[in-house]
Amino acid sequence: MRLTNCHNVDDFRTLAKARLPGPVFHYIDGAADDEGTKRRNTAAFDDCDLVPDVLAGVAGVDLRTTVMGREIAMPLFLSPTALQRLFHWQGERAVGAAAAKFGTYFGISSLATVSLEEIGRTVTAPKLFQLYVHKDQGLNRELIARAKAAGFDALALTVDTIVGGNRERCLRTGFTSPPRLTPGSAISFALHPRWTLDYLTRERFSLPNLAGHLAAGSTVPTSVADYFTRMLDQTLDWKMAEAIRAEWGGEFCLKGIMSPGDARRAADICATAIMVSNHGGRQLDGSRAPFDQLAEIVDAVGDRLDVICDGGIRRGSHVLKALSVGAKACSGGRLYLYALAAAGQAGVERILGKLRTEIERDMKLMGVRSVGELSRDNLRWR
Ligand code: LAC
Repeated sequence: MRLTNCHNVDDFRTLAKARLPGPVFHYIDGAADDEGTKRRNTAAFDDCDLVPDVLAGVAGVDLRTTVMGREIAMPLFLSPTALQRLFHWQGERAVGAAAAKFGTYFGISSLATVSLEEIGRTVTAPKLFQLYVHKDQGLNRELIARAKAAGFDALALTVDTIVGGNRERCLRTGFTSPPRLTPGSAISFALHPRWTLDYLTRERFSLPNLAGHLAAGSTVPTSVADYFTRMLDQTLDWKMAEAIRAEWGGEFCLKGIMSPGDARRAADICATAIMVSNHGGRQLDGSRAPFDQLAEIVDAVGDRLDVICDGGIRRGSHVLKALSVGAKACSGGRLYLYALAAAGQAGVERILGKLRTEIERDMKLMGVRSVGELSRDNLRWR
């Protein structure tokens, strides 16, 4: 399988699987428990169908939408994901450059492998900083201040990682950050010499945004689930979320909202956006899919904040369905991580190009000229 043979997210997944050592691939691809929620995140889109209109004069279609205070050129953006230089040596630099090329939001994790300052300086795309609230209050304050100073456009507070999910693939492979050499992983690294050579010879792996505070994950091998459980602050509550919103003072998103009640509370603390998300099924298996919850959440708060549908998106038609229900935009993690792992920046650009083309083509086939024209009239539930 080569880059030019990759036409969709699943093709890139196949290529990523071939290129990555098993522990790294399964960290990206895996989810919690039986991975039922991860599967449902995508399958949910099959429970409703698009109903097209025709003869609408669609020679020019407008894919722009405004979300978290910024106009983006397409209604799909790149969710923050951790550890990107482990997947490809170009890491966040590649993803940020690709996002800029497509004029869409780039999410950067607290556990990113490039510093907030460098991202701020070099990436021209709209930038979303994703905050994990650590027990170390000094670290939290520092991360917010650094993101502000680096000119980030929005802050997303992740609220669905209060403890680590049960990621059994990672338990089996022994995946840690940074990767630990075990007899099993050594074989897998040896079988993927290109990845291993890059890992050993390129810029040394680190999590620069935690520097001076935490060695775990950066120089001391730790599983992500242990990291969440040990390092994150389980006292996190609405009062703290409100205080973080006030300290940040700008566009503020809660990432990981699944119930209409929480969506209302998010609006009550003046969040400007929510990401309806279950963290890619990596936390609570058995949780409902974002798309399944979207309508009731849009009905509850769609007029008070931007609702973003995050999770399971693999096709342009999935984006159209979520926008028809009332999402302002969609976002995804694995959908670009497979491409990053498969081919670096060229891969991320190729999948974004494919998805943008699908969105544009499907809008024409639906007979709509702008994303605002999509509505629930376009949908029928089976
Ligand atoms: C995950 C985190 C780091 O592994 O977002 O799900």
